[in-house]
Amino acid sequence: MSTRRHFLKITGGAAILAGGGPARLLAADAPSGADVELRLTARPGEAGLLPGTPTRIWRYDGEVLRGDPRALSCLDGSGHIPLLRLRRGQRVRIHFHNRLPEPTIVHWHGLHMPQPMDGHPMYAIDEGETFTYEFEVDTRAGTYWFHPHPHQRTAYQVLQGLTGLLVVHDDEEQSLGLPAGDLDIPLVIQDRRFDGDNQLLHLGRRRMDWMMGYAGDHVLVNGAAGYQRQVPRTSCRLRLFNGSNASTYQLRLSGGLPMTVIGSDGGLLEFPEQRQQVTLAPAERIEVLVDLSPLQAGEGLSLLAETWSPRLQRLTDGQVTGELRDAGRVIATLIAGEEQRPSTPLPDRLSVYPAAPSLEQAVTRRVTLSMMRGSLTMNGRVFGGMQEVADEERVALGRPVIWEFANDARMGMGRGRGRGMGMGMRMLHPMHVHNVQFRVIDRQMTDEPDSVLESLGRGSIDNGLKDVVLVRPGERVRVLMQFADHTGLYLYHCHILEHEDLGMMRNFLIESA
Ligand code: C2O
Ligand code: CU
Ligand code: CU
Repeated sequence: MSTRRHFLKITGGAAILAGGGPARLLAADAPSGADVELRLTARPGEAGLLPGTPTRIWRYDGEVLRGDPRALSCLDGSGHIPLLRLRRGQRVRIHFHNRLPEPTIVHWHGLHMPQPMDGHPMYAIDEGETFTYEFEVDTRAGTYWFHPHPHQRTAYQVLQGLTGLLVVHDDEEQSLGLPAGDLDIPLVIQDRRFDGDNQLLHLGRRRMDWMMGYAGDHVLVNGAAGYQRQVPRTSCRLRLFNGSNASTYQLRLSGGLPMTVIGSDGGLLEFPEQRQQVTLAPAERIEVLVDLSPLQAGEGLSLLAETWSPRLQRLTDGQVTGELRDAGRVIATLIAGEEQRPSTPLPDRLSVYPAAPSLEQAVTRRVTLSMMRGSLTMNGRVFGGMQEVADEERVALGRPVIWEFANDARMGMGRGRGRGMGMGMRMLHPMHVHNVQFRVIDRQMTDEPDSVLESLGRGSIDNGLKDVVLVRPGERVRVLMQFADHTGLYLYHCHILEHEDLGMMRNFLIESA
């Protein structure tokens, strides 16, 4: 099978001796002790996403075999989204079983991983097979996640319910006294569409629909419509994560209350930022503190979302009334409880970033996002196979690189084949690079942005370490990164999952210098 052959090519001769495929080999290679060991299974199941008939879904479930049993739990809401809590420095072993009727593999989004552990589609396993992950948690404290990454089936499988949250803690974070325990509240935001019997509706086969991206008319939080949770009247830490296939959200609090942003994709910001509104593109995470102490017991604080499709169509429907109309619709409500707790004051400085890669020594690589011949391409290319990598997609270990993502909004507009698709190119593309946290250096719009683009841009949190960056139509965004260790093939792609599956994804190869 080609998967095996690809694996051997990458890891070299040793693999052949060990034999038996990736899982067994790596288990043999890895240090024998693990601080946390778990079983994780992808399987069909059902959950209460809407009131009434349960929805047939696919889900991850598992159990802790060794280490702290609290390492694996379930989010509230529908109860089908797992939460994996790890500490930096922990050695982790995960026996992943595929009980789905098709191949899959797990990618640990935002983590820094040896190549064979990263969930590249070349490692997808068939129904009934097991893949053993062995890695050391080597990222800053923060909110990460895991999801399937099989070739051309990622959008389908995530939509079916396969999403997990991964929270990493470390000493720096724990010294801050941030709200913890029941005050540390992950909110996974995902839109879905249902038939009359509460069953999930997927996109059909029309290429045009895939270009537009999936759009649901229900915005679920932690898997459930109309999410509510009672919380003590004090300061809470919300981990906002957009786990939607394609939709981008602008999020606000009811009553115009401010949010104190403390973190983004790659963990804590250096300094907190006050925002009225944040933008969350697919796969992005933002951590905020909200203060419920001014509320009366029983009073609610709502999270309002205005939803945008990749084509910048407003998806917020007419369900909202009166004053909420402009602010979006309520997707989650925190109800203030009787209990009042004092909150620890937030320090001015939250964290110290690792040293930045040198801008002066960085080489620049331009990645132009455009539609060509009816495909969404990066520098004119689509995914070309498990091993394919262009010369310009090789990066040297240790060498600072600037990737300049240019969302070429005008190509294909009004003329030629782009017009044949009837849709031009004004699309949001949230670009993701595996295995690294990068810094956003600057953004530049080629045209005067309209008010929507302007307000989406204003809500982006660019000061943090990032693994996804939203690139608006007509925008160039430069990000700076450096690959410190681990060589081999990794992926970069648009995180609109339909775009990824259509081929808006490429390998890049990290080579030792
Ligand atoms: Cu979350 Cu390759 O992606
Ligand atoms: Cu990723
Ligand atoms: Cu895209």
